[in-house]
Amino acid sequence: TPVAISSETNHDNNPIAILPTREGWSTPLTLYNNCWLRSHMLTKFMLVKEKFKSRHDDIILATHPKSGTTWLKALAFTIVNRSYYSFVNVDQHPLLTQNPQNLVPFIGAQGGDLDYLETLPSPRLLATHLPLSMLPSTVTTMGCRIVYLCREPKDAFISRWHFDNKIAKGAKTDLNTAFTMFCEGCSPFGPFWEHYLQYWKESLQRPQEVLFLRYEEIVSCPLKVVRDLAKFLQVPFTEEEERRGVDQEVVGLCSFKSLSNLDINKNGGVERAEGKLFIGYSSLFRQGKTGDWVNHMSKDMGEKLDRLVEDKFRGSGLKF
Ligand code: A3P
Repeated sequence: TPVAISSETNHDNNPIAILPTREGWSTPLTLYNNCWLRSHMLTKFMLVKEKFKSRHDDIILATHPKSGTTWLKALAFTIVNRSYYSFVNVDQHPLLTQNPQNLVPFIGAQGGDLDYLETLPSPRLLATHLPLSMLPSTVTTMGCRIVYLCREPKDAFISRWHFDNKIAKGAKTDLNTAFTMFCEGCSPFGPFWEHYLQYWKESLQRPQEVLFLRYEEIVSCPLKVVRDLAKFLQVPFTEEEERRGVDQEVVGLCSFKSLSNLDINKNGGVERAEGKLFIGYSSLFRQGKTGDWVNHMSKDMGEKLDRLVEDKFRGSGLKF
């Protein structure tokens, strides 16, 4: 069966080896600090809390996977760097030749090695899929700005399922197995409800420093979100820029249509997990729509996930 919990014994002094591990997604996941992490990334992520040196002016894009991370990275990068990479010479913009994922490093992961992050000038634009509880507490005490992005859970699940099957070189996961695991909280960086709630509560406590966004609101009002994001990142669009339509150009450059049609995003890609995964950049651009879950999940599955969401978020003020 694709879902299995390993129960290896006799690991003497290796605390990692006794952590619960499950198979079923494209690579095994290990439960650490109540978060399911890809086992091959576990030790790197475990170091973040202790070794990542946050700075007061860090900007951290924190997302639950499949919520539009690629999009948010593109938008934030373009907004904060618009004085270096203007739209006058748009053909030289880094987004045209690099996948957005590679323009904003993931803290502690490939491309975001902790020593390398030390060398970056301030203010740093960084990203993470880790729950807040796995980041150092200085992120909160120093007042780092966080932009959090999540997504309606049924759509996030369908996006996850498609993506995992696209990047897996080995066996694919059937929808029912994936759904069961997702509802049990066992998905990369899950349980998703813990992830959403940790950042939601932080945004209520530090509203000036934590901006809580949903994928759906960027889809329905991209220009408003781009303006709000620029204000939040302390680089608001000037009246002159708005008159020239710079904010609209950001929306256009980062749109699904624009990014997904670029050669780098159609044909580029990267291997991960010692060659067990191939992340073709095109797999980061599937549909870019809301409500696609109805085309894949039964009514029963939809209702089950809705009930779970209602149950987990009850009393928090967070609704989907
Ligand atoms: P779908 O699978 O529903 O199409 P992430 O970047 O966190 O992995 O999220 C991927 C999801 O965001 C995918 O959703 C992808 O299509 C969508 N996406 C990526 N770039 C986008 C963009 N520029 N505009 C809108 N959606 C985008």
